[in-house]
Amino acid sequence: MNSKIMQEDIKTIAQNIGENVQRLSGATVLITGGAGFLGNYFILTIDYLNKHVLKKPCKMISIDNFITGLKYNIEDQENFKAIKHDVTKPLQIDEPIDFIISAAGIASPLFYRKYIIETIDVGVFGTKNMLELAKDKKVKSMLFFSSSEIYGDPDPRFVPTPETYYGNVSPIGPRSNYDESKRLGETLCIAYYDTHKVPIKWVRPFNVYGPGMRIDDYRVVPNFVANALQKGFMPVYGAGYSTRTFCYVTDAITGFFKVLLSDFNGEAFNVGTDREEISMRDLAKIIAEMFDNTVEIRNMDGPTDAYVTADPKRRCPDLTKMRTKLHYMPTVDLRTGLKRFIRWVIETHDIKSLYVDILRKKKIIE
Ligand SMILES: NC(=O)c1ccc[n+]([C@@H]2O[C@H](COP(=O)([O-])OP(=O)(O)OC[C@H]3O[C@@H](n4cnc5c(N)ncnc54)[C@H](O)[C@@H]3O)[C@@H](O)[C@H]2O)c1
Repeated sequence: MNSKIMQEDIKTIAQNIGENVQRLSGATVLITGGAGFLGNYFILTIDYLNKHVLKKPCKMISIDNFITGLKYNIEDQENFKAIKHDVTKPLQIDEPIDFIISAAGIASPLFYRKYIIETIDVGVFGTKNMLELAKDKKVKSMLFFSSSEIYGDPDPRFVPTPETYYGNVSPIGPRSNYDESKRLGETLCIAYYDTHKVPIKWVRPFNVYGPGMRIDDYRVVPNFVANALQKGFMPVYGAGYSTRTFCYVTDAITGFFKVLLSDFNGEAFNVGTDREEISMRDLAKIIAEMFDNTVEIRNMDGPTDAYVTADPKRRCPDLTKMRTKLHYMPTVDLRTGLKRFIRWVIETHDIKSLYVDILRKKKIIE
């Protein structure tokens, strides 16, 4: 890993996981979607824990078919094995497995409208295959990545949204292949917990962003930053009044580890931040300020129907459950997280942009 920003992030996560971290000592973790944004953070964090924290090293096996994932950030080494495999097909693993992190998915609306059926398959069959593996291997814990999208377009009376809210989801709308497959993924989780006592728990992440995201995947933070740097404008799809809460990756990964290493089974946990619910227009304005207002905010149609017509109006988690049961406390404010993300983009991408000088003058980057 050659990114200073990511190295700092990994250290922060490792320091905040809590005392249950030693449950990983000498264990084997299987992670699906390891070549993606969050998967890479898990792998790098466990690598750091192996070097600095754990009594015995934790072995990692990562499964990814690279449908959207680009690469692993960890170098080859004895505690890490990568297998190219599509998790919608059954998986045979000979060695024992203690933990499963089921993070394979097609998360960006751009890609899940391109790979419509594959998105359903990974949410449903990918999850079922991992639950079967967890049952056969008698794992200590399995974590499934659901999504805050299972809440659909929530009734404003249920924003901030608690885990008990059932959701308001179209079964046939432009986002349904993603939303409904995550919902059925959760149903499979509870079914395997009830029937086979698989120690499964799942998270519903709310707009996690940070270093390691593909800057071309059209999720809003990379999309704004990459377009500002390369084209001098930020595309706001539709009027830009929809709101989201953006959780920096260090806070989110800390929360995910807390859930994985806990003894809560058969339960859902919101993970995100509840501090700054912000409209897309205002998010663009904050980023524009960082560029000394030299970049334009441009309203336009989205690249697919998932963006404007089917865009949920609000998204903000109720974090009471995470705070009280797992002492989760997101700490990174939006401006700090955005600066870190911009620094990482400049650090790792070969971007020749006149805006780099402006960012340096504004002390957004060094
Ligand atoms: N980042 C977020 O804000 C967020 C929010 C809600 C839910 N999630 C969920 O968390 C998980 C990880 O998200 P991310 O942001 O890292 O996404 P990502 O797209 O960066 O990574 C997902 C990875 O899964 C892999 N994958 C997809 N289908 C596969 C298959 N059939 N077999 C094997 N590998 C497959 C992809 O190649 C990719 O490397 C996903 O399941 C996503 O739906 C993420």
